[in-house]
Amino acid sequence: MSKANESNQSWGGRFSEGPDQLLQSFSASVSFDKRLFFHDIRGSKAHARMLARVGVLTEDECSQIIRGLDDILIEIERGQFAWLDELEDVHMNIEARLTERIGNVGKKLHTGRSRNDQVATDIRLLLRDEIDGLQAELERFRAALIDLAEREADTIMPGFTHMQVAQPVTFGHHMLAWQEMLTRDTARLGDCRKRINVLPLGSAALAGTTFPIDREFVAAELGFDGVTENSLDAVSDRDFAIEFSAAASLIMTHLSRMSEELILWMSPAFGFIDLPDRYCTGSSIMPQKKNPDVAELVRGKTARVTGHLMALLTLMKGQPLAYNRDNQEDKEPLFDTLDTLRDCLRLYADMTPHITVHAQACRRAAAQGFATATDLADYLVRAGVAFRDAHEIVGKAVGHAVEKQCDLADLPLAELHQFSDAIQADVFDVLTLDGSVAARNHVGGTAPEQVRAACTRARNRLGER
Ligand code: ARG
Repeated sequence: MSKANESNQSWGGRFSEGPDQLLQSFSASVSFDKRLFFHDIRGSKAHARMLARVGVLTEDECSQIIRGLDDILIEIERGQFAWLDELEDVHMNIEARLTERIGNVGKKLHTGRSRNDQVATDIRLLLRDEIDGLQAELERFRAALIDLAEREADTIMPGFTHMQVAQPVTFGHHMLAWQEMLTRDTARLGDCRKRINVLPLGSAALAGTTFPIDREFVAAELGFDGVTENSLDAVSDRDFAIEFSAAASLIMTHLSRMSEELILWMSPAFGFIDLPDRYCTGSSIMPQKKNPDVAELVRGKTARVTGHLMALLTLMKGQPLAYNRDNQEDKEPLFDTLDTLRDCLRLYADMTPHITVHAQACRRAAAQGFATATDLADYLVRAGVAFRDAHEIVGKAVGHAVEKQCDLADLPLAELHQFSDAIQADVFDVLTLDGSVAARNHVGGTAPEQVRAACTRARNRLGER
């Protein structure tokens, strides 16, 4: 009989023929789920130790299995492992190879478990480790932003609303706004990690197992905080992956917003920043071009990560309890999310320390667009004018300056005085950009002094997860 007609060695007992060729490749997941090999072996070793502890395996059988799994790990790491589609997935590939290496004892490893609780365990282990790595990258990026914020605490740039010049802010303050987004992102991942770090193994196929298992022992071996409460839920729900994917989408959304600003700022029309050549690319036709491709690609890759979130939500929505094969489709979106997110964070963490800020261009842009108009209104309020009246007065003064094509600060005192008696010579102190930012001197405000204090606080929070 040819290989194709043989029934599957792991579940073929009740079958009289092998799977259809197309079904075999359609059903196989090993090409992508082999990525779980390390965690699959780790989980299997803990399971074997537990089986020996409760007397289902002898100590000798357990040692043979552990040694066999360790050898397989080495084979895989050296690229010497032959992954076979006909063995469907990472779990059956490793188990079949174990039996090939150590003989019939290998067939005992799967006692008291199912691929259903096995795969749920593997994904949780992998996600947990990946989150630790992602949080480290987030912290590296945040540290770079804090350093940049401190460096540019006094640099004045326009703050925008509706993409129109609104009020002057400091470049450092702007960087710390990004840093805040990433601080919440770090915490969100940490929160999601708590719900990931619970052991499903022991749920077996869906109802639990008849063997006297010790789930707490396995949980402790694998560093889980506890065990899942319900076997039906534990083998079927992927809400932890969806939650992670949602947190990842939010991080990408934040990175995308930052990218959009970097792209604008690097355009000669703004000229606020420059990025190192090694993070930019040229044009094959326009010799002068230096394009901020990292930022554009990060903005673009946000689409696929958000798309993966939609895929996972949709994958889950129609599934009855308990495990369904649909869930095999969770891996590619999840793995691609992990890879995309890690690369984006790494690139930004690497690139940020090398952002050059053109302080003069930033200041020039802030000096256009009447960025200190609100300061003039506040000045009038301090002189006893009601805010709504002050708003009207300043609006008229701005209209006048627009006609004269100059800034408010360029209008002579006599002309300003026409709009309100309350305007005196000291008005020019509040009409300056430096006066404007320095005056916003409270926690959360843009004053350089506050930015420096906020940098210190932000740095102190870097280890928090
Ligand atoms: N490859 C499967 C998955 O990713 C493993 C579990 C398969 N279970 C089953 N009974 N076919 O979900």
